[in-house]
Amino acid sequence: MTTIDPSSSQDSASVSVSASAPAPAAAPSAASTPAPAPADAAAQQQEQPQPEQQQQAAATPFDWIGGEPAVRTLVDRFYDLMDLEPAYRELRAAHGTTLADARDKLFWFLCGWLGGPDHYIERFGHPRLRMRHMPFSIGIKERDQWVACMDQAMGEAGVPEALRVRLRESFMGTADWMRNRGG
Ligand code: HEM
Repeated sequence: MTTIDPSSSQDSASVSVSASAPAPAAAPSAASTPAPAPADAAAQQQEQPQPEQQQQAAATPFDWIGGEPAVRTLVDRFYDLMDLEPAYRELRAAHGTTLADARDKLFWFLCGWLGGPDHYIERFGHPRLRMRHMPFSIGIKERDQWVACMDQAMGEAGVPEALRVRLRESFMGTADWMRNRGG
């Protein structure tokens, strides 16, 4: 079973999904794969890859999610929600007045973290995410709001459900590592 390794985004040398963990693991559940009507089944199988086939074809989570346009959509939705939703008030308050830099940086970072191009490392070097988050006060509330906001964004941006479940777990591992105060 392969997983995204949250530690790869922390303080290890590589932010990319490691070679031993190229893609989120198991096949999507049957529940997420609506069965085609019998008459359509053969034609649909030929014309449209089913979710299982899409995952098998995707070498990395970056491919599976849909490449750079999909990562950009996800990040934009994430920061839009952070700005708009009262449920993420404390998370928003931890950020500066503008989210423009954060949008670009998270986009660059996630491309590499998902196994795509290393835009972030090319610009800034080693991510050292925990160290870079030290100036911000991050406790359980901020961690949980970050993960909830990202999960809502994944849902609204149309991230495939099986991938969303795996990423949520990986994001939680990384966000928990970012905590620098109790409570
Ligand atoms: C746990 C709750 C988190 C809080 C409260 C938080 C907050 C912040 C803040 C305030 C910034 C600065 C934004 C700016 O430059 O304007 C930032 C930057 C950043 N965050 Fe987070 N963050 C959290 C979790 C995460 C997670 C889980 C990831 C990755 C999966 C992440 C990735 C990044 C990246 C890549 C940057 C840019 C770092 C830089 O180059 O300065 N953050 N975060």
